Amino acid sequence: MAERRYILYPVWDPLLRGVHWWNVLTLCGQLVTGAFILYLGEELDHMDHEGLVGIHLVFGYLFAAGLLVRTLWLFTGPESARLRDLLPVTRAGRRVLWETVRFYLGLLRGTPPLYRAHNPFAGIVYCIFFLVAWFQVVTGAMTLKLAAALREDSALLELHEAGFFLIVLFIAAHLAAVFIHELVERRGLVSAMVHGCKIFTDEEIEALEGEP
Ligand code: HEM
Repeated sequence: MAERRYILYPVWDPLLRGVHWWNVLTLCGQLVTGAFILYLGEELDHMDHEGLVGIHLVFGYLFAAGLLVRTLWLFTGPESARLRDLLPVTRAGRRVLWETVRFYLGLLRGTPPLYRAHNPFAGIVYCIFFLVAWFQVVTGAMTLKLAAALREDSALLELHEAGFFLIVLFIAAHLAAVFIHELVERRGLVSAMVHGCKIFTDEEIEALEGEP
């Protein structure tokens, strides 16, 4: 029997990886300071409250910078970083999308779908995340333009709080999905987000390279 060879196959470019971890760090800073403002805001005195809002603002701008770079990279980056790779716009992408849905509905039994960079199902969720993240940046910046006395009761702040919970939900689902992928597909997904390469067999690479 021929021996199966495992190959490290490059999928994520350095900028995508760098921005991913930049966004993780800056978003964590934002979520932690945001949670403090949300749950302890009324117990803090005015100076502490405004200091915390200031730190939240700095993390917000740092996150927005990463988000801007990633958004531009969706249109100018290499093939595996582009919007086309995230969304199921090709026939192969739509096939993988349905295979993924079937695989999940079948409770992860059978052969997992084969794809190179983004899974189109995850890709749709990432695009929704990018939109919610932009919404968060814009509502945050607009809320800060309001006078402090008007902020508390503003609809903008309520929308900004709703965005906070959506992002927390995304992170929980994302981490669970990455964990399940590592367990079931075993492509070294997390280390791929560090060094850029997923693990495929030579037969899988042949199949992937034969795709349009
Ligand atoms: C604030 C938390 C996080 C956010 C907002 C986030 C966001 C994202 C986004 C948007 C992508 C798509 C890649 C792109 O096209 O830019 C992605 C992919 C990925 N993330 Fe995260 N991430 C977070 C935390 C993490 C953590 C903590 C890990 C590792 C334990 C992780 C591991 C990965 C991996 C392995 C992928 C590639 C998954 C795939 O093939 O679909 N992420 N993440």
